[in-house]
Amino acid sequence: MLLLYLTTVSCVVFGGSSAGFYEKSECYGKFLRFPFTYTPPRFNGQLYFTPKKGGSRKLVMDKDEAKDPRLQISIGSVVLTDLTERDEGTFSVSVGDAMPYDIIKLEILDCAYKEYRIYGNPYFFVAPELTEYIEFLHFHSEDLPRVVWNRTDPETNKGSRWQMKGSIWEIKSLNQADGGYYNFRKKDKTVLSRIRIVVAENKRRFYTNVNERLVIDNPSLDATWTVTFTPAGEVEKNTLMEAGNLVTDDRRIQIMPKGIEINPVNIIDSGTFEFRDQQGHLAQIVIVMVEDEPPPPVLHPYVYIAIIGGIIFAVVVCCCCVKKCCCRNSSSKRHESAPETAAAPAVYCHDLIQPAGPSYSVAPVPDNSYQPMNSLVSGEPTTTSLEPSVEPLGGQGGYPAPTFGSDFLSSDPVPKFELKGLSIPSALPLVSDSTFCDVYTSDKLNFL
Ligand SMILES: *[C@@H]1O[C@H](CO)[C@@H](O)[C@H](O)[C@H]1NC(C)=O
Repeated sequence: MLLLYLTTVSCVVFGGSSAGFYEKSECYGKFLRFPFTYTPPRFNGQLYFTPKKGGSRKLVMDKDEAKDPRLQISIGSVVLTDLTERDEGTFSVSVGDAMPYDIIKLEILDCAYKEYRIYGNPYFFVAPELTEYIEFLHFHSEDLPRVVWNRTDPETNKGSRWQMKGSIWEIKSLNQADGGYYNFRKKDKTVLSRIRIVVAENKRRFYTNVNERLVIDNPSLDATWTVTFTPAGEVEKNTLMEAGNLVTDDRRIQIMPKGIEINPVNIIDSGTFEFRDQQGHLAQIVIVMVEDEPPPPVLHPYVYIAIIGGIIFAVVVCCCCVKKCCCRNSSSKRHESAPETAAAPAVYCHDLIQPAGPSYSVAPVPDNSYQPMNSLVSGEPTTTSLEPSVEPLGGQGGYPAPTFGSDFLSSDPVPKFELKGLSIPSALPLVSDSTFCDVYTSDKLNFL
């Protein structure tokens, strides 16, 4: 056995080196011409073929007799026509009683125009002028190609989704079953053109938020659809719609003329929706990503306390400030403001009722009296905790913030109050201890 094997190898090597060994590549539909050495009348042996993808060696030509109908033999010429991928493999010859040796290794090239199309779209192709018929072979099909259009046999073309209009070859609405190879052949079977069409589903993505309304359009209006839903991270498909009919009891899901409505969308709607036609072809994949609504701003309990404290603070300061104008009148601590404070009592009487207005224009005015409350407070390093509560007051404009702005900054008790401003009980004594209006302030607070 080993001896036989060695003999074979040596013969192959010997034969290959002596008669020439070729590696050839040819396009699908083309032909293979054999070297002159293997043509009659010179060649008087057998020609074999061994398929590349497995299978036994078969006789192709015996002396000048063809064993394959595609083999055209004449004096000085041997040609294998209409090559297909089944011809990929090795040709070998034997002469007399000698062992066969390889002469040609053949590779078949696809040589097709590659086209990618989306489900439902039409397809157009300018057919070569001499096209006599068109063959179609589905991907990975083991069958022989079938004729989908024949110039001399109009019967085969009737009622088909395939049409030839003039020289334009048209497929009306593509689906995956149309994916494959189309060969445009001449009368003598020569391939003039070859197309490879891949049909893919339409892919879409939706990003939405919880509680919103989502409408997922059907791939087209002229078909009934079966829709499945696969929740994100899972594999099992749940059917939502079967041939156009709703089959889910989720009341948020409704059928619309155009598609499916989900209202309101929930986080569990994140996932993949697949739309299939009645033949089961996948027309559309919709990936839905539902995100949580941005959470409402959570206020810390301290913030509420600070707001209440801020209101009390503002009322107190406002009252004190107004009252201070009166007190100043009697104490006359600040002589430089005497002319203004002299006018203050009249202002006080009116401003108790209407807090906005001229009081601050009359008050003693250092450089920064007209700055808004916010900037004054944020300028104080110790008052940051109080800031959020005071801010809305300034923003609302309900109180004349600049009124007390200049004065309370210059006095000590009030910044202390701000420091402890978060806790009202501790703030109260501070205020009532202040040299300003004791009675009035505590009355207000009791009332609150
Ligand atoms: C095309 O139609 C003609 C007439 O029916 C027929 O003879 C011929 O074999 C057909 N060609 C192919 C490739 O089927």
